[in-house]
Amino acid sequence: MAHISSDVSTTFSEYLLIPSLTTKDCIPDKVDLSTPLVKYKKGESSSLKLNIPMVSAIMQSVSDDGMAIALARNGGLSFVFGSQTIENQAEMIRKVKKYKAGFVASDANLTEEHTLQDVINLKRRTGYSTIGVTEDGTSNGKLLGIISGRDYRPTKDDPSKKVKDFMTPFNKLVTGKFGISLPEANDIIWDNKLNVLPIIDENDRLRYFVFRKDYDAHKEHPLELTDENKHLLVGAGINTRDYRDRVPALLEAGADVLCIDSSDGFSVWQKETIEFIKTNYPKAKVGAGNVVDKDGFDYLVAAGADFIKVGIGGGSICITREQKGIGRGQASAMIEVAAARDEHFEKTGEYIPLCSDGGIAQDYHMVLALAMGADFLMMGRYFARFDESPTRKMMVNGNYMKEYWGEGSNRARNWQRYDMGASNDGLKFEEGVDSFVPYAGKLKDNLAVTLGKIKATMCSCGSITIKQLMNTAKITKVSATSIVEGGAHDVIVRDSNIK
Ligand code: IMP
Repeated sequence: MAHISSDVSTTFSEYLLIPSLTTKDCIPDKVDLSTPLVKYKKGESSSLKLNIPMVSAIMQSVSDDGMAIALARNGGLSFVFGSQTIENQAEMIRKVKKYKAGFVASDANLTEEHTLQDVINLKRRTGYSTIGVTEDGTSNGKLLGIISGRDYRPTKDDPSKKVKDFMTPFNKLVTGKFGISLPEANDIIWDNKLNVLPIIDENDRLRYFVFRKDYDAHKEHPLELTDENKHLLVGAGINTRDYRDRVPALLEAGADVLCIDSSDGFSVWQKETIEFIKTNYPKAKVGAGNVVDKDGFDYLVAAGADFIKVGIGGGSICITREQKGIGRGQASAMIEVAAARDEHFEKTGEYIPLCSDGGIAQDYHMVLALAMGADFLMMGRYFARFDESPTRKMMVNGNYMKEYWGEGSNRARNWQRYDMGASNDGLKFEEGVDSFVPYAGKLKDNLAVTLGKIKATMCSCGSITIKQLMNTAKITKVSATSIVEGGAHDVIVRDSNIK
């Protein structure tokens, strides 16, 4: 007979945190949200850490290079989606690794022989108002001058005028040497009252621009997540099919950590993938999943996973539970897997970080997931709403929305994520939907509010670290009636339009 579990599958909304004593030391400013990303031994610390406990989902509609840069600048990490060609994914990783805060590759360039009309067209197309003039018109060509809005008058000047006749030429430019630091570049900008500083190498080739405004922005990112060379950290999603080709390309491109992306990670395909990586690239770090119970966790730990992702069927766009009848309430899954992780730590002294993946619908769910044992959270819907996600912003019924689609939807057709080992490639049925999420603006602004809430809740629980929260939080189940009590009730909420 089948094993029938006696517990009922529960999710975050069915729990609340009970406050613990808040002492004078326990204030939001003192809360440290750093957390381990990969396994480590007792007494040691993780070789990769996050500064905030958040990673963005391995999805086309969430994690490209733009999101990866924005999130790492704010202390988290993106796993760039793997449902694209190896070359494209590696290129995205390269772009993140090449990104130097404040040093911007010149994306709008022309030659001296182009015309004012070309400048206007390029500006309209790219939105950039600073254009590099290089010998061959490329972003790293020999620098001959730059054009900014001050160099021409679009309504008065002749559109056929040549670039060389109105650009600010090289001999009038103040430039910085390739290799200087951002503070040094900033000093040059201030001393010379510049808006932009071209950075050139020993052959006068254009390498970057440093803009005055970006320097200020850099100072606003104290949690930036970087490697020892001060490059942003970035992760990459892989699958259990083409890993022999994909993994070397991603590592070569500079990926700091990999993660096998699968809706059901309790499989021999994951074991083989991890074994391949550990044998051929012993230093590479790879997460695996997703699992929802101790058996799945133990299997992937034995296979050598560096962290384990928990969650099946809880994603906002996910219809796996409806389609296949597999999955588990996210809270139940986290609680059981975290207990297995703690048991493993007790027995072996090896700590395996857990990632709670999917189903975070409220900010307080994040604290619950952490309290239940997650070291960090993977989110799709949350990040899809921001400017930095790769999808279109659209007006739907009078409101701005962003597109958000599942990897198992017909739109993404990421059949490798749902690989069941059949020789026949392709997505047999959908496990995800194509949807809209309300547009929410900039990642940084939203994150500030969310992190503020997390810290406040942690302080209510008497914790200033995630570890402390995990060890001491008091959690209670809630009845359906007390959920009603938790919202505004027995009042008529005023319409904000009524003064
Ligand atoms: P969300 O944060 O609730 O939107 O969930 C995001 C998570 O859903 C991802 O990290 C994946 O684990 C999962 N996911 C992504 N695409 C699909 C899909 O098409 N079907 C089922 N789950 C998906």
